Amino acid sequence: MDHKKHIPYSPIQYEESEMLNRVDAFYELMNKRRSVREFSEKDVPKEIIDQVIRTASTAPSGAHKQPWTFCVISNKDLKKKLRTLAEEEEERNYNGRMSERWLNDLAPIGTDAIKEFIDIAPWIIVVMKKSFDFDEEGKKTNNYYVNESVGIASGMLIAAIHNAGLVTLTHTPSPMNFIAKLLERPENERPYLLLPVGYASETCTVPDLERKSLEEIAIYYS
Ligand SMILES: Cc1cc2nc3c(=O)[nH]c(=O)nc-3n(C[C@H](O)[C@H](O)[C@H](O)COP(=O)(O)O)c2cc1C
Repeated sequence: MDHKKHIPYSPIQYEESEMLNRVDAFYELMNKRRSVREFSEKDVPKEIIDQVIRTASTAPSGAHKQPWTFCVISNKDLKKKLRTLAEEEEERNYNGRMSERWLNDLAPIGTDAIKEFIDIAPWIIVVMKKSFDFDEEGKKTNNYYVNESVGIASGMLIAAIHNAGLVTLTHTPSPMNFIAKLLERPENERPYLLLPVGYASETCTVPDLERKSLEEIAIYYS
């Protein structure tokens, strides 16, 4: 068995008062995050996108398989094609494929089949999950806890985008396989999320949502 070499690790530590300040500041920052559906065309430098993806890739993953690929699209023609295909799928969803209950749950959010943010936002990141991989000889290898791993990396990506002062939307066009085809991805990769990244439009609004309180979501066993 191949045992990885271990190295010393000195985690960052803070005094309790500093910790309190940091958790408060981070909560305040994250609590300002909202899903944005109206984007500006204003450009964002590629270095910023590179760095938020690097941040996402620091996520833990099952057996450290890092079962993700980030497809980053700024090409205008490709964004247009992506939008057209996404809207065709969404049209079928909103006009038949979604249940009445699902449509009712979406009503307060105000989403519809028009996805203009796909070609307005300067960047689209499609997070791909790799259900398996290939070794150097081209033989299939296993990945583990792929959904959990890619979900965590996506959460970190969203946090990094927000920390940069940019906005995104967690978008899940369904079904999403047309994206893998359009981007000519290999058979082991499946689209997981589509994230437009950029600035909010000046007239942007968001639904007036409330988040559950700590009492509603946490149970302590002291
Ligand atoms: C897995 C997942 C899929 C989502 N899919 C969509 C989507 O396809 N379209 C959309 O407009 N919003 C989508 N959302 C965004 C949610 O509607 C949004 O996160 C929720 O309403 C809470 O709003 P907030 O993100 O502003 O806090 C999705 C969110 C998640 C986590």
